[in-house]
Amino acid sequence: MIPVNKFKLLVSDRKIILNALKKNWISSVGPEVKKFEDNFKELIGKKYCSSVSSGSAALDIALKVIDIKKGDEIIIPNFTIISPAISIIKLGGIPVPIDCDFYNWNMKINEIEKNISKKTKAIIATHIYGYPIQIDKIRQICNKHRIILIEDAAEMLGHKYKGKQCGSFGDLSIFSLYSNKHITTGEGGMVLTNIRKYKDKIFDYKNLCFGKKNRFNHYDIGWNYRFTNLQASLGISQIRRINKIILKKKEIGKKYYNNLKNCKNIYIQKPKLNNIENVYWVIGILILNKKMTATKFRNELKKYKIETREFFWPMNKQDALKKYNLKLKKNYKNSEYISKYGLYLPSGLATSDKDINYVCKCVKKIKKRFNF
Ligand SMILES: Cc1ncc(COP(=O)(O)O)c(C=O)c1O
Repeated sequence: MIPVNKFKLLVSDRKIILNALKKNWISSVGPEVKKFEDNFKELIGKKYCSSVSSGSAALDIALKVIDIKKGDEIIIPNFTIISPAISIIKLGGIPVPIDCDFYNWNMKINEIEKNISKKTKAIIATHIYGYPIQIDKIRQICNKHRIILIEDAAEMLGHKYKGKQCGSFGDLSIFSLYSNKHITTGEGGMVLTNIRKYKDKIFDYKNLCFGKKNRFNHYDIGWNYRFTNLQASLGISQIRRINKIILKKKEIGKKYYNNLKNCKNIYIQKPKLNNIENVYWVIGILILNKKMTATKFRNELKKYKIETREFFWPMNKQDALKKYNLKLKKNYKNSEYISKYGLYLPSGLATSDKDINYVCKCVKKIKKRFNF
């Protein structure tokens, strides 16, 4: 089976973990955690950076520190992972999902302002699948309406938008370090900010809000979202080669693009669109003919021993969210279409040229057989 995500760890990555083990630094206490956070904030260009146990934990923390009150509205993409919606709901806020663009799969920028109300506290702007959202425009909207920008750059570590790192635009920015991300610590996440008042809160909420005078008299309800020194060691050894990793991701994407760009009714994003580069976090394809759904196509690819992944399921269709208060629009036609007709192909850093050629050959074979 060609896995949907073949990640790549080097001998040096394994050595660095063994070193941390030898020194007994296995929990969240240890010098590597701070070193990794320093490397991370230097890369993104933010003042403060705190590691956490996942990207979803990072969203919980980012939303907690902006002090959401019951009924506050937060604008989110309708097409994304469920994490932002559930973080908001857990804190009593109301997610306001916005449909995505049909071709770049990011939240529609021109829908945002229409959905700002007196209750809007923040916008979560997410870069989806490797093509950066126009985050500078969202920054301007946030400044104009004095609302907080949380930048979800979970999938984008090391990629730039207009010369600046993704994750450098938000009042708070978050990343994921799960095994399919550009660098991975198995599980893990980061929260970054330049705002001093958020910094201490981030640390306290990820660490059970221990009391300042009496340690075990906790001053508020927090989480244990700590990151371990072992994970940090693995992060340090990969972040050193982030530029190479980004080049490799783009190279994999271009190879797929060149191979599939002339396939009628299979849409693959261009390496550069409106002068903005795609890093191809994943190799998403969209079927433009309703004869073939993503589920059917994935099953066919599986017969050729190719693992794929379905696209995100839109927020307005989530069973888990049905009983909660979401401010829904009438129409989510783009996200509904792409969640049914979109899938991604083997995309990991260790995906070889041979894998790419084989996958593309099979895509074309299936297309021919089902005549669409
Ligand atoms: C855009 C986005 N945000 C947040 C997350 C959550 O990250 P994690 O899986 O580390 O909890 C993901 C996960 O892939 C994601 O794609």
